[in-house]
Amino acid sequence: MDQLNIRQGAPLHGHIQAAGAKNAMTKLLVASLLSDKTCTFYNVPNIGDVEITVNLCREIGSEIEWDKKNKTIRIATPELKTSYVPQRYSGSNRIPILMIGAMLGRTDEDIIVPTIGGDLIGARPVDLHIHALYKLGARIEYREMKKEGAYFAQAHEGLKGAVIELLYPSVGATENTILAAVRAKGTTLIKNAAIEPEIIDLILFLQKLGANIMVDVDRTIRIQQAHRFHDVEHTVMADRNEVASYAMAAIATKGRIFIEGAEHLHMIAFLNKIREIGGGFTVKKNGIEFFYENELRGGLHLETDVHPGFMTDWQQPFVVLLTQTCGVSVIHETVYENRFGYTQTLKEMGADIELFTQCLGGKLCRFASRNHLHSLVIKGSTPLRAKDIWIPDLRAGFAYIMAALLAPETSTISNIAFLDRGYENLVEKLISLGADISRHTTKKVDIGAAVS
Ligand code: EPU
Repeated sequence: MDQLNIRQGAPLHGHIQAAGAKNAMTKLLVASLLSDKTCTFYNVPNIGDVEITVNLCREIGSEIEWDKKNKTIRIATPELKTSYVPQRYSGSNRIPILMIGAMLGRTDEDIIVPTIGGDLIGARPVDLHIHALYKLGARIEYREMKKEGAYFAQAHEGLKGAVIELLYPSVGATENTILAAVRAKGTTLIKNAAIEPEIIDLILFLQKLGANIMVDVDRTIRIQQAHRFHDVEHTVMADRNEVASYAMAAIATKGRIFIEGAEHLHMIAFLNKIREIGGGFTVKKNGIEFFYENELRGGLHLETDVHPGFMTDWQQPFVVLLTQTCGVSVIHETVYENRFGYTQTLKEMGADIELFTQCLGGKLCRFASRNHLHSLVIKGSTPLRAKDIWIPDLRAGFAYIMAALLAPETSTISNIAFLDRGYENLVEKLISLGADISRHTTKKVDIGAAVS
């Protein structure tokens, strides 16, 4: 297992290129399964989650060339060789459940996909996916198999467009429903849909592929059945999680970095909060520069939310940034009920954080009165001490890297497979910015490494 050694070095300085977005690229590969056409993707990130998704697609018959040097993937699935996704992918990532939506319109066979994984940041059920696909005519059941369960899906009577109102604008449920709707007869309306930029990227791809698809201003997505498909070329959007992660690391270390390819439109909520704490940024023609200007201010109230709100995935590194601000700040996490587990380690490193089950701040969220620790109060600024750290999930992993970059002694960070799944060339990029970080292999086998 590889580990990272990190300690405080010079402030981060320099220029990096934003990678393609993990949470767009993986879905685009699945969307290509809707037809037999050739899809060429540019700006493909070389990360573990794309590797897993490529393997998942190959299992069911996709022919794929991945030119990692040129960041390009060409994929075509002339026919589905099987609609059974093997059990060994159980818990691998969030993608298998989305393959149901993409495959339903292409096969009369039963579709079998393993249970999904993903960061352990809440229960993360798939009830909204199942309910929406049911309304389109699919039947999905969870059944126990030899070792673990799997989802069995079929639409023997064919898929038919419907009006679907999501109880919550779930990213995955919206994507799954869109994918199934592209081949469903007639028109589908998804109300209260998620409208994250990654979903818009998916919609742009699907329009090129042949879908007639529209996003209304009131979170309604309208999809008409596609009758003809076309070859597609598509450049994957920049990863706004990666951009925000490096931006926060630069400001926390009092540095200055330029992130080429960072897209202003996708970062609005983030930039507002950076400005509120006194962080600096300049939007340029081809990217965004982030920098430390003056002492950082706390006194902030932040609520994570679905787009266009402040992303939950930015929350974890932002808490580390808040350890470097003067004053008391409050964060209310409204997307996941259990995304503060990582703060215990930050407290052991010197952060002053207290967790609460109440909804602190503006509104009552879905987790009100349900006893989940989903609000926090943080007092800064506090110096941080080094620690040996085990990463529990992807974004907590980056948060710990930031914390380690702020501590004078060396921290050792383990379970970094999580980081490899979501951050392209992480160590190389940080070294290029001047970070004191090295990667090494240990002989110790980590038992019980969690899923991503
Ligand atoms: N939810 C339900 N029922 C469902 C689906 C979702 O209750 O059927 C709940 C979840 O439990 C959660 C909330 O709705 O509390 C949001 O879940 P959502 O479905 O929107 O998330 P996701 O599709 O599973 C994606 C990203 C996450 C990101 C969220 C929110 C991927 C692979 N993952 O997850 O990214 O946090 O949207 O923006 O796209 C990450 O990259 O680190 C990451 C965790």
